[in-house]
Order: sequence, then C-alpha cells, then structure tokens
Amino acid sequence: MRTDNALQNAPRTVRLADYQPPAYWVDQVHLTVQIFDDATWVDAVLTMRPNSAYDQPQPLELYGVDLTVESLEVDGASMTPSWDGETVRLAPVDKATFEVRSRVRIDPVNNTSLEGLYRSGGMYCTQCEAEGFRKITLFPDRPDVLAVFTTRIEAPETYTRLLSNGNPVASGKMDNNRHFAEWHDPFPKPSYLFALVAGDLEVTTDQFETRSGRVIDLALYTEAHNQHKTRFALEALKRSMRWDEHVFGREYDLELFMIVAVDHFNMGAMENKGLNIFNSACVLADEASTTDKGFETIEAIVAHEYFHNWSGNRVTCRDWFQLSLKEGFTVFRDAEFTADMHARAVKRMDDVTLLLTQQFAEDAGPMAHPIRPDNYIEINNFYTLTVYEKGQEVVRMLHTLLGPERFRQGSDLYFSRFDGQAVTTEDFVACMAEVSGIDLTQFERWYNQAGTPRVDVTGEYNETEQQYTLRFAQSCPPTPGQPSKQPFHIPIKLGLIGRASGVPQTFSTDHPGFDQDTGVFSLRDDEDVLVLSGVGESVVPSLLRDFSAPVVCEFPYTADELRLLITSDDNSLNRWRAMQALGTRTLVALAQDAPTGTTLEGMLTEAMAGVLRDNLLDPAVKARLLALPAQAYVAEQYEPVDPVSLNATHKGLQQRLASALLADWQAVYDATSSNEAYVFNHNQAARRALHVQALSYLVVATPEGWQYARDLLQSADNMTEKSAALAVWADVANADWEQAMVDFYQVWQHDAQVVEKWLAIKAAAPSMRVPDIQSLIEHEAFSWTNPNRIRSVLGGFVMRNPEGFHADGDAGYRFLADTILKLDSLNPQIAARLCVPFTQWRRYVGRIQADMQRELSRILAAEGLSDGVYEVVSKSLGDDDA
Ligand code: BES
Ligand code: ZN
Repeated sequence: MRTDNALQNAPRTVRLADYQPPAYWVDQVHLTVQIFDDATWVDAVLTMRPNSAYDQPQPLELYGVDLTVESLEVDGASMTPSWDGETVRLAPVDKATFEVRSRVRIDPVNNTSLEGLYRSGGMYCTQCEAEGFRKITLFPDRPDVLAVFTTRIEAPETYTRLLSNGNPVASGKMDNNRHFAEWHDPFPKPSYLFALVAGDLEVTTDQFETRSGRVIDLALYTEAHNQHKTRFALEALKRSMRWDEHVFGREYDLELFMIVAVDHFNMGAMENKGLNIFNSACVLADEASTTDKGFETIEAIVAHEYFHNWSGNRVTCRDWFQLSLKEGFTVFRDAEFTADMHARAVKRMDDVTLLLTQQFAEDAGPMAHPIRPDNYIEINNFYTLTVYEKGQEVVRMLHTLLGPERFRQGSDLYFSRFDGQAVTTEDFVACMAEVSGIDLTQFERWYNQAGTPRVDVTGEYNETEQQYTLRFAQSCPPTPGQPSKQPFHIPIKLGLIGRASGVPQTFSTDHPGFDQDTGVFSLRDDEDVLVLSGVGESVVPSLLRDFSAPVVCEFPYTADELRLLITSDDNSLNRWRAMQALGTRTLVALAQDAPTGTTLEGMLTEAMAGVLRDNLLDPAVKARLLALPAQAYVAEQYEPVDPVSLNATHKGLQQRLASALLADWQAVYDATSSNEAYVFNHNQAARRALHVQALSYLVVATPEGWQYARDLLQSADNMTEKSAALAVWADVANADWEQAMVDFYQVWQHDAQVVEKWLAIKAAAPSMRVPDIQSLIEHEAFSWTNPNRIRSVLGGFVMRNPEGFHADGDAGYRFLADTILKLDSLNPQIAARLCVPFTQWRRYVGRIQADMQRELSRILAAEGLSDGVYEVVSKSLGDDDA
C-alpha cells in the first residue's frame, strides 16, 4: 500500500497508448554555446512549422530541465510562459513557419547527473540520450522531431578542441583568450543524437576508404596521457566499417567520424551522429593493461555505436517505447560482427549466458516488461537486458525464420524505406514480412508480451514405424499487468542423435511448420505434435539448437542422455547447454540436499574428465564447458534461495571437482602455458581462457593451490592472466594475496582502467565485509562522482560477492540502501541501477526477504526520491499500480 505522502509524490507514468505526433516540426536549429569557467550560456534559434497532420493550431510545447531561462521569444515577441520545471507551454502559433529564440544559462560544472552538458575532469561533454538535451536548451526533445543542427561553440583557448556533430565549417580566435568553432550536420536528427565536446585533447587519426571510394577521416580524441591506448579502437572501427558494407550493405555518410574518450560516463558509449562519446573504459586499450575480454568488449562497443549510424541514426525511433528497434537490432548486428571476427559458437555461449543469468531473472521479476514496453515512469530504467538482449534474440529469430538472404532483403527495405524517419518496431517487422511472405502477425507478440515462455517437450520412439514423435506444449508465466498470455511463434531448431551410435540421424516430416532446409520447427500453438519419420534407431533429441528462441525448453532427459549430448551432439552450443544442464541439476540437488546429488556429481565428474581429456575441442569452447553454471542461474531454478548456502554448495562442488580431477587440471594447465609474447587473437585468447579456467580449479584443489596464482601473477606478461590470478587467489585469500594486491596497486595506480579492475577484484573477494567496503570507499581510487568506480566497488560486492554481501545479518542490505540514497541526489541514473539486486527479494529465504523488504520501504519513504529510484523500488514492493 502506498502512503499518502508517496501518493502525492508519485511521478507521472508515460504510456505508449497516449502517443501523439508532434504538433510542430523543427527544420533548423542554430545553437551557440558559450562556455565560461563559472557558467555556460546557450542561445538557440529554432526554425519551426506546424505539423499539418493537425487541422487546429495546437499549443507549443518545449521541454527544459535545470535551466535558468534568460529570454524566450516567438518571432520576436517576448514570452513569459508557464513552466513546471519540465514543460514550457506556449499558445498555439498559427503561422506557416516561425522562429523560437531562447537564451538559457546552465551549470555544467555542478552537473553530477552526467546528463546534458557536464564537466568530466578537465573537459566538457554531453550526453543527450534519452532526455538530456532538455538540460541544455528549451526544445521539443523527443525522438520524432528531426532537425538540421548548426552549432557554434565558444570557449577559453585552454579547451583546444571544440567538437560537435557533422562537419567543421569555421573556427577562429576571439578576444579575451577565447576561440570558437562552428559545425554543421547535414543529416536531420533527433536531439538525443546531439553532442558537443570541449577539451584539451590529443587526437589520433586514421582514414577509411569506403567501397564507393570515398575517403573518411577518422579521429580518436583523448587526454594526452591516454594517447598510447587509441590504436586498437581505431583498427576495430575500420573493421566495423568494412563489415557493415559487406554484411548489411551500409556505407558511412559523413566525411569525418570522431570518437572521444571521457572518464565520467553513465553508460558504455553513445552513438551521437559523427561524434561518438565513449566511456574511457570502453575504448582505451593496450597490450599491457587490457584483458582479452576487454579487447573483445571494446571492439564490440566500437562496432555497436558505429552500426547505430544506420540502425538508430539514419532510421531512428518514433518514441522511447521503440528503443529495442535500435538497440535490439544493433546488438544483433554487433553480435554477428563479433561472431565473424572471432568464434561464432563461443560468442553465442557468452550471449546465452548473459540471457540466462540476468535477462531471465528480469523477466521473472517485478520490473518485467516486453521488449517494447507500454509504460514507464523513468525511461532510463528501460535500458535493460530485456530491451537489449532479448531484443537481440527477437531479431535473431527473424533471421532464423527468414534465412540470411531474405533477412538482408528485409533490412535493405527497412533502411531505404525509412531513411530519415522516426519509426516503430511494427515498421521493422513489416519489412521482414513483406520480403519473405511469412505471416509475422503472431510473431509480433514477442514485442508486446513480457515473460520468458516455457516449452515442455516429450519424445517417443516407435521402432516398428521408425518414427520419433515430439510433443510440444508452450506456456508463459504472468508478469506485472499481463496475467495471461497468447501463444508465441517459437522457432525451435532441432536434430536427433542416435542413442546407440552417437551419430546425428536424418529424418523427414510432413508437418507444415517444419523447415527441412534449416531444421527449424515453428511452434505456434499451445500444443503441437511433430512426427519425424525414417528414424533408423532410438534417438535423443537435440532441441533449441543455437538457442534458437529465448525460452526455457524442458525435456525430461536422463543424466545419461545429457552425457550423450555432451559427447556427441553435432551442435556445439547444445553440447555446452547439456553440460550446463548436468551441472545445474547437480547443484540444485546438492543445494536442496536431494538424494540424487551424489550420483549426479559422479556423472558430472566423469563428463568433466571427458572434456578435460578431449584434445580436439577449441580451447575457448573447452574453457566454457568446464565452467560450472553461474550461481545466478542456479538460483533461478528453485525457491526459496539461500544465497549463502548456494555459494557454499557451489564452492564445495568446485573444490571436489578440482581435487578429484587434479591430474587432469594440472595437465591442461601445463599444456596451456606459453612464453609467446602477448597478442590479442583468437588462438591466444582461447588458450589463456582455458589456462585461467584450469587455474581456478587448481587454486582450490590443494592447500598450496594458491601458489599457482602467485606464480602466474609473477610470470604473466598480460592483464588477462594477472587479473585472473588475483581474482581466483582471492577465493583462498591469505596474507600473500593482501600483499600482492598492495603491490599491484603500486604498479598500476596511474592506469585508470586497471585501477577499476583492481577495485572490482577487491570488492568481490569473499573475505570482504561491509566495514572493509566502507574503507575501500575511503581509498583514493574511489570516487562518488565516477560511475566506473561505483560499478567496480558496488557491482563487485553486491553482484559477485555473495559471501560478503549476505554476511552479518542485514548489514549488506543496509549498506546498499544507504548507498542508493546517497547517490540518488548525485546521479539518479546510477542510483536506480543499484536498486536492481533488491528486485529479486521475494525469491530469497524468509530472513533475507524481510530484511530486503524493510530496506526497500526505507528507500521509498525518503524525501525527494528521483523518479528512477521511485519506479524500481515501488514496483519491487508491488506498491505501484502502473
Ligand atoms: N545508445 C546507447 C547508450 C545510452 C544508453 C545512452 C542509455 C544513454 C542512455 C548505446 O548505443 C549503447 O547501447 N551502449 C551500450 C553498449 C552496447 C555495446 C550494448 C552501453 O553503453 O552499455
Ligand atoms: Zn546501442
């Protein structure tokens, strides 16, 4: 129940159903941004016209937040409008075109929200997605208003670089040691893609020749001390540009493409037209300080933001409910890019892991929403795993159903038909339906219905008929606001493995829902039966190959059948899924003290031994086969969860697997040692992944195991092995580990990206308790205004340290709630994200439930809560009727 106080403060819910086209268009924007040390002035001239879709003149609405409005004129007439701190409402303007002029003052130096224009270290930069432009000037700040921007920046000469979107058109000196630069972006764009940077920056340049022979200048701007870390991102950028030409037929459109690295950034990176802005951690890299995972992530983020130039910028979103139109599609594009650059199966395993461990939990929790949500209080809360990762899966299902050629025709049609427009997810799906002739009406439910569908499958072999019959039943649990669901169109890619031979079996069927070429069965009804003929022996089905749909697919496999799939499935993703299933079953049985626990553990041990001794496997695949399922995933399989005992079960199993197979771990560890100099490439990264996976077992196998970590820390020439050594050694932390951490910090304290890693390792060490985290917050490396540092410490402690976070009664929860409240006034976006661990409170055992619920209520009762924190906390408590 909501208190009267909360009711009064309840922020407004925005609903998709209320969408109205803009009453006015903005054709041109001329901005003049005058930066002074103590304040910044923004002059805006908007050339506007009414939207002819309305036959009556409509009120003119502009948005503005945290602005001091000095003047506002419509066609020369001064206005003193009503302003509620967010929306300025002006009388209808009955003119074919007119000019709105405003002058506002803003305070970037004290802007800790990192939205709008803010100072990061010594530089000024912007972040306008989703609704940050209204913190810069009065504007119809909504993505369906596309305008041509011309920007003049004036600043002290100490800010040597003055950058904005598009092409540079003028620059020069001014009085008082000031200078200016003017930029023009010829492509109409929504205000969320506006960007501006002013700073004393070094530039690393390169060039790219497009397939049509145009030469594009590439520039990566950093602070001087980071310039040695720019090469990799520029190479990744060129690979991305080439790939998008080859695979999607998309060429870059401006003469210049710029990236700027900034230290203070709420997200990973931002696709502003022609001027991408990156969190330093997501772009800066070199061979000494960056891990293999880091390189792969940086390459993927560079690609992702570059790909937005078409999927997001040239074709943009009509409103923020359509966010997955650009994000889900672009995540799909960057995942395909990574798969092509490295190892497809491995990339898929990593993406499926993210989906299973985090998106499924979101879909089952109080914040569950469809990939196209239909309401929100704070849009920043909807940059979620659902919109991004499930959004990617939905695009991937279209790719699976259409096949690569027709999918490409569909994307070509989408880009050409909607170039320069702001559109909806329906527009995207309609293009895919049009080119393929496939009826995607039912498929659209993936956009509107939340929750993870469940598919229960059983199978039966008839030897005389040589037939294998699969029976499917689908269902989807209720989610907030959606008590019952309609059946989904679920593509299930499948194969059959001979039970005796271990060999993949051929088959045929006359079911119209089965596509013989792709092996994909379209499940559309609540229940269906698929009869497969010509099946020569008894088989074990391999279902949902390549994870062809974001569903829970349950088949009553015996442990022996899982082992057959682990050794013999010709779909490598499903071999891995079978291994994970055996691991999960074992962990759930052990966590619940089920009698099957020991038998399952024995089978898992044998399966692991088989994998350890299989020298034909790609070491990267092998490393992932040897990883136990994440605790977060196991915790989704039963209720109520006691995270402390689950962690003890997980660690106990890891330790027993380590000692039972000690000689094998040792053999793999030795075989993956190498003296070759560090290079980031698939072969080396795969070897190192397996090496550190073996290390994680060796350190717990014997009392002296930690010495392996110590030795690797000393001998390694690369951050992948060094940081892994420190992290696994933390599990068996001793005084030597403490000293190693101190020494490591001494060496790396001037490298911001390594310091962030160090903070995360420290916070995730099982020996850490709340008072230790409080001291870490006092450390010089921590900062309340730097989201990366907050993520390292809080993310490490809350998400990756069950032992520490859940120790000492409610100490961890009180600490988290205090942190959220403190941060909410500095950076509400980060504060709201920190609430996410609390959203799972109902799944825990009683004591934890009660303690977390109390902390959530305490947050909700606080004065002046941001909309973002209010939304997550109130929905978690079930207080919100939205
Ligand atoms: N458009 C987003 C960045 C963004 C999100 C800005 C929310 C403001 C609010 C960008 O394209 C993005 O999705 N970045 C991801 C990385 C990407 C590889 C998934 C990020 O920042 O985490
Ligand atoms: Zn994106």
